[in-house]
Amino acid sequence: MKTIRVKTQREYNVYIGDQLLDRAGEYIYGAVSGDIAAIITDDVVSSIYLNRLRASLRNAGFKSVVFSIRNGESSKNVFTCSRALEFLAENRVTQTDVVVALGGGVVGDVAVFTAATYLQGIPCVLIPTTLLAAVDASVGGKAALNLETGKDLVGVFHQPVLVLSDCSVLEELPPRVFVEGCSEIIKFAMIADSELFDMLRNDSSLDLEEVVARCVDIKRIIVCRDEFENGERRSLDFGHTIGHAIEFLSKYKISHGKAISIGMAVETLAAFRLGMCAEECYHSLAEVLHKFGLPVRTRFEADELMRAAMTDKKRKGDNMTLVFPRRIGKCILSSVNMAKYEQAIKERTSKAGEML
Ligand SMILES: NC(=O)c1ccc[n+]([C@@H]2O[C@H](COP(=O)([O-])OP(=O)(O)OC[C@H]3O[C@@H](n4cnc5c(N)ncnc54)[C@H](O)[C@@H]3O)[C@@H](O)[C@H]2O)c1
Repeated sequence: MKTIRVKTQREYNVYIGDQLLDRAGEYIYGAVSGDIAAIITDDVVSSIYLNRLRASLRNAGFKSVVFSIRNGESSKNVFTCSRALEFLAENRVTQTDVVVALGGGVVGDVAVFTAATYLQGIPCVLIPTTLLAAVDASVGGKAALNLETGKDLVGVFHQPVLVLSDCSVLEELPPRVFVEGCSEIIKFAMIADSELFDMLRNDSSLDLEEVVARCVDIKRIIVCRDEFENGERRSLDFGHTIGHAIEFLSKYKISHGKAISIGMAVETLAAFRLGMCAEECYHSLAEVLHKFGLPVRTRFEADELMRAAMTDKKRKGDNMTLVFPRRIGKCILSSVNMAKYEQAIKERTSKAGEML
């Protein structure tokens, strides 16, 4: 098992290893003083893992109550959180009790937002059940909800008191859910870890404990330097400006991981067009995305993408701060004129006429 200490304003441990779900009760007992554990989960995850979590909590002396949401991105909104908040109040959950998120990134965002706003904030424990949530969403304390107008437009920062990433749960994931997480792993490799990128490119299988720990550690370093996303933390949004636009335009039929995959490809291509990186950087990224069965192309036109990206929080007037890869393992933040950027993502063929 690996333990990573995240030294944000509230410090906490991220445990990464096997069979942690069945020991969740004892870990949570060591992290909080209350006696009610309000589990927030979804209908798919609850049917597989809820009984094990409740048994573990019971053995540690907790009373557990369960709020289950419909699985999927369409639940990630203020209406779901409003119902979750009523649920906590009806169950007399107090400030020392704990919200336990059991699920993927959607459950995590809903649970953290709910815990952050209930009674001005109560403790939250995250048990990510998708690879995407384990490598990214469960670390850093950011929770975002969607509005009708766009993706992730409402949010809070609220660090968890504990994260338990059970690799045996992640190993059981259906391939289509597993691959979503590979997209965020490739993102971490692109922004900060060329050695991880080589592992992804060359190795035939992933050592999950090692890869999850590597990504969590990259996120830890960035989040500890910029907890409230005033600068460097925005580099974690590589692929997300275009990715979020694609999710939104597809009415969330294109999943987060796949949208980020396309977003990274489009943003890297734009970086090449704007002279920020070599063409080879795009080809290497596309090769690894292909290897994991992730997409690189979108049917949405450049003007549609830019219009959808207008709500992005990194926009200032006609300019937008974006993450540009310089080479594999190194990205920078730079402000770019949106019209110029639209032109850069419009052109999708190389000088040799090859489709990029
Ligand atoms: N807060 C953050 O820092 C942050 C970071 C990255 C992504 N996100 C958000 O995370 C979301 C994407 O997360 P996700 O890909 O985990 O999506 P998700 O939570 O919707 O999970 C994907 C699907 O997998 C199912 N599932 C979950 N665990 C499973 C398991 N163990 N076995 C079988 N099925 C399982 C879920 O029910 C769901 O149908 C997006 O909304 C994204 O914006 C947040």
